[in-house]
Amino acid sequence: MTKIAILPGDGIGPEIVAEAVKVLDCLRDEYGFAAELESAPVGGAGYDAAGQPLPDATLTLCREADAVLLGAVGGPQYDALPRELRPERGLLGLRSALQLFSNLRPAVLYPQLAGASSLKPEIVAGLDLMIVRELTGGIYFGQPRGIRERENGEREGYNTLVYAEHEIERIARSAFDVAMKRNKRLCSVDKANVLEVSELWREVMIRVSADYPEVELTHMYVDNASMQLVKWPKQFDVMVTKNMFGDILSDTAAMLTGSIGMLPSASLDASGKGMYEPIHGSAPDIAGQNRANPLATILSVAMMLRYSLGRPDLAERIELAVSAVLDQGLRTDDIADGGSSVSTADMGDAVVQALRNQEH
Ligand code: IPM
Ligand code: MG
Repeated sequence: MTKIAILPGDGIGPEIVAEAVKVLDCLRDEYGFAAELESAPVGGAGYDAAGQPLPDATLTLCREADAVLLGAVGGPQYDALPRELRPERGLLGLRSALQLFSNLRPAVLYPQLAGASSLKPEIVAGLDLMIVRELTGGIYFGQPRGIRERENGEREGYNTLVYAEHEIERIARSAFDVAMKRNKRLCSVDKANVLEVSELWREVMIRVSADYPEVELTHMYVDNASMQLVKWPKQFDVMVTKNMFGDILSDTAAMLTGSIGMLPSASLDASGKGMYEPIHGSAPDIAGQNRANPLATILSVAMMLRYSLGRPDLAERIELAVSAVLDQGLRTDDIADGGSSVSTADMGDAVVQALRNQEH
């Protein structure tokens, strides 16, 4: 039977994951999709339960599972911990241990929420772009790294931005594959005017493009890309970039939609196994208040069904159900735009109801 590891994590994580689990339960009851769900702590919750942000038992569960659903990690109560015990380490450890090198971060503007963007409607209407972020290499993981003392006693911090050819090649192929399923346009974002590692990145992108003659490959420097994203985001379809550039650009792209609470993500290994999570964080300020938006987590389940579990039909059903509740005018606080709002649990229940109502 399909096994899904459920990692609620910290902050609003447990609340939003509970709604996604309701959706999975509904798929079982109404659509015969049977999956075994097993929960485990990660992040601050992992530290509280086992003294580690990524407890061994959690990692073992994730290795055994066919897919992982994660809520969010982090909270102010963990900020003073040493770096290796911080909640973020749990997330980075999972990415690295499971070799989840390809991070897909869609930014889609729901027409029902067009007013939520801080940009003019004509700039963002119909926006649908995908950022493919390299997730297990680059400056996030490069060695050596640390803080050391110079001869004169002054301290210096240092990190290493390094990519081996095979790492660039596999993220390139992943991005070209995504582009093939979309509009066959791929923009590779780098800093090849300054960095040698970007020079190699660009060279490998061009080499791999020979295997994808239908895809139009373009290149853009990262500073320009950040500007173009807010100037005319619809020029992009799929973007591929290094770990840290992708971290930054994907936050910008998410905000173009005005509703970071709506956006899911997938982190995939070479065989398509993946970890799925909303791209917003743990939002400690509203944790436990039943106010968070569960839709990004629910849409993460849809991505899981599409990319790891071979059920695009069910993914589509979830996406239709989410669209239906937006059509009904249901809004959580983050997307209410000053209007009335519903709770986390009510939003989850509405999606389940919409799923039940679909013809089947
Ligand atoms: C993200 C987050 C993480 C990252 C943090 C929490 C380590 O910002 O997933 O984008 O920097 O990758
Ligand atoms: Mg980030």
